[in-house]
Amino acid sequence: MKIPQPIPYQGSKRALASLILKYFPVKIDRLIEPFAGSAAITVATAIRSRASSYWINDLNQPLINLLEKIVKNPETIALEYEEIWQKQLGNEREYYKEIRHRFNINKKPKDFLYVLARCVKGAVRYNSLGEFNQSPDNRRKGKLPKTMRKEILQISNLLKGKTKFTALDYAKIFEEATENDLIYMDPPYQGTSNKKDSRYLAGLNLEEFISNLELLNHKNVSYLISFDGKLGSKSYGRDLPKKLELQKIMIEVGRSTTSTLLGQTDITYESLYLSKALTEKLSIELPKEVALKPKQLQLL
Ligand SMILES: C[S@@+](CC[C@H](N)C(=O)[O-])C[C@H]1O[C@@H](n2cnc3c(N)ncnc32)[C@H](O)[C@@H]1O
Repeated sequence: MKIPQPIPYQGSKRALASLILKYFPVKIDRLIEPFAGSAAITVATAIRSRASSYWINDLNQPLINLLEKIVKNPETIALEYEEIWQKQLGNEREYYKEIRHRFNINKKPKDFLYVLARCVKGAVRYNSLGEFNQSPDNRRKGKLPKTMRKEILQISNLLKGKTKFTALDYAKIFEEATENDLIYMDPPYQGTSNKKDSRYLAGLNLEEFISNLELLNHKNVSYLISFDGKLGSKSYGRDLPKKLELQKIMIEVGRSTTSTLLGQTDITYESLYLSKALTEKLSIELPKEVALKPKQLQLL
């Protein structure tokens, strides 16, 4: 089954899910995503029936409300989307602005779903007042209601009755995590996220993040972190410190189009860090810090 994605979300891990899941234990009691975004990894895990329950968390409350509604009231949100989508026809530009304005006042899931479906690259952007200010992609009308409905129902079938939703700071989730959980983390992009980042409602303090990871190590919790981006020889983020005893795996994810235009072949990498508690559980041979192409990874 292709991973359904009713919420287009820039930075979604949908395309990398099968590579990341290779490093999950075969059976998981509870999978926690503290920085869930569109929860692509949770959905990919549920498709493979790998976990008994799920905990989806993101600091972005309207996003969590939307995901929760998709899972718990799929028919209602699908109908609401269709109604909004139909009303835009013939007046798409102005209508988008109207719904975006309404969303910034009422924060309703149906309005958020529509603006996410129509905004440029599915990329959330906020101004300094915390208002959603991304422009519409005027070449597109947003996912067809029929397709949206199908994907919403698929997500609901996969997660209904076994998923908890919260909009807390990740540190609160760490406090509750136990040895029986698996945590997958995709924190805000490290290169820019120490400062206020217009892509998210909040940034991430790296030093605090590292000391919170030490707490997880202390509790022997299994976790994985997708972290920095690396383009060619240029790295966009610091390595996580040795004291955390993590296993780092580099995944080659593609080539940069800009540098291809310049005749260069810069390659983009993603790192995936595995906690010690996790590597001790896995029965596969783990590569040292090496670059693996998706194809080579499949062989593991
Ligand atoms: C890179 S995105 C995750 C994308 C996700 N992996 C996906 O597949 O869609 C990072 C997410 O972390 C959330 N976030 C930022 N700071 C946070 C915090 N302190 N606690 C919890 N979530 C946070 C953002 O709202 C954003 O949705």
